[in-house]
Amino acid sequence: MDKVDEDDVVNPWEVATSSATGVDYDKLIKRFGSTKIDDALLQRIEKVTGKPVHHLLRRGKFFSQRDMHIILDLYEQKKPFYLYTGRGPSSDSMHMGHLIPFIFTKWLQDTFDVPLVIQLTDDEKYLWKDLTLEQANHMAFENAKDIIACGFDIEKTFIFSDLDFISNSPAFYRNMCRVQKLVTYNQVKGIFGFGDSDCIGKISFPAIQASPSFSSSFPEIFNGRSDIPCLIPCAIDQDPYFRMTRDVAPRMNCLKPALIHSTFFPALQGAQTKMSASDPTSSIFVTDSDKQIKDKINKYAFSGGGATVEEHKEKGGNCDVDVSFQYLTFFMEDDDRLEEIRKTYTSGELLTGFLKKELVEILQKLVGEHRQRRASLTDDVVKQFMTPRKLKFDYPP
Ligand code: TRP
Repeated sequence: MDKVDEDDVVNPWEVATSSATGVDYDKLIKRFGSTKIDDALLQRIEKVTGKPVHHLLRRGKFFSQRDMHIILDLYEQKKPFYLYTGRGPSSDSMHMGHLIPFIFTKWLQDTFDVPLVIQLTDDEKYLWKDLTLEQANHMAFENAKDIIACGFDIEKTFIFSDLDFISNSPAFYRNMCRVQKLVTYNQVKGIFGFGDSDCIGKISFPAIQASPSFSSSFPEIFNGRSDIPCLIPCAIDQDPYFRMTRDVAPRMNCLKPALIHSTFFPALQGAQTKMSASDPTSSIFVTDSDKQIKDKINKYAFSGGGATVEEHKEKGGNCDVDVSFQYLTFFMEDDDRLEEIRKTYTSGELLTGFLKKELVEILQKLVGEHRQRRASLTDDVVKQFMTPRKLKFDYPP
């Protein structure tokens, strides 16, 4: 299992830390063997794309990578690549933390003008949770709406539910079989910590999450070509799947996927606590009303401010543990304004109430816009996104 040190536990099913400032990401990079995103890489991204990097990159929310330089080389040479990300649909409604990878993936799609495949692992959630196949599949469809409402381009995006897609896709299933043949029980036990009493569905599931990393899994999109490289934006807890994928790829005559990893989004109660889709007070959901957003931030967002106004003015606030400030670093785009807030909150000049007010306004706007886009989506459009088809890109044989 991926145990980082005494305290931090990071694997696809559990993220736990006892530190108020969250997981130690530098240690995690060492443990996982990925590479830190440094200033030189950020500058290179700006140079090849000719635009400023997204604030989530600038602020280190996407902090780790594998083979990003190869992707940038390809882009410079005008050679194709594609994006792959996913979501395990475990509830009908998504929270803001779930949206982070998709907000960033949309930026990548807009910036690099590339195809995107999004895997909804309803099969995974069926295997791991107390859900029926029908419930898991229904959640996949509901989550697809929230994902589409992030603004993805229908001509460049294919979203699929494993339960619906795989049984109709011989090419995908063949890649699954290839992966299954190359990975032993001992290996998945080491990577994922599976035990003797885990059902065999779990044990073979990693092959399902690995397969979208290969362009040959989607002949409809890539015209049967197996040589289109893949870049996977994901939260770092998904890295074990892709370490396994990168290990088997060369033996399948396939390309290793590149990766770009994000940190975790903190729960309202603080970075040590778990954000849970089943606990409505632990996060802001995309379905929350303006009033719910305001009440939740005011009531539950862990404050790094002083206990009283006097104490706050004297000692100042601690931005590193203050959840409202942390949320601003994810959602406030204006760097200068953010820096001003950081300074005045740290000095004690800015009170917690004002910090929260600023955050509430930003979240109400973001969630409000999302709500509108979701409401205007028809089932027909969702079906179109979820139909295997050629996208707007050509891949000559
Ligand atoms: N296992 C992921 C989850 O539970 C879903 C997922 C599938 C995914 N494929 C992915 C996430 C690729 C990131 C990238 O959320």
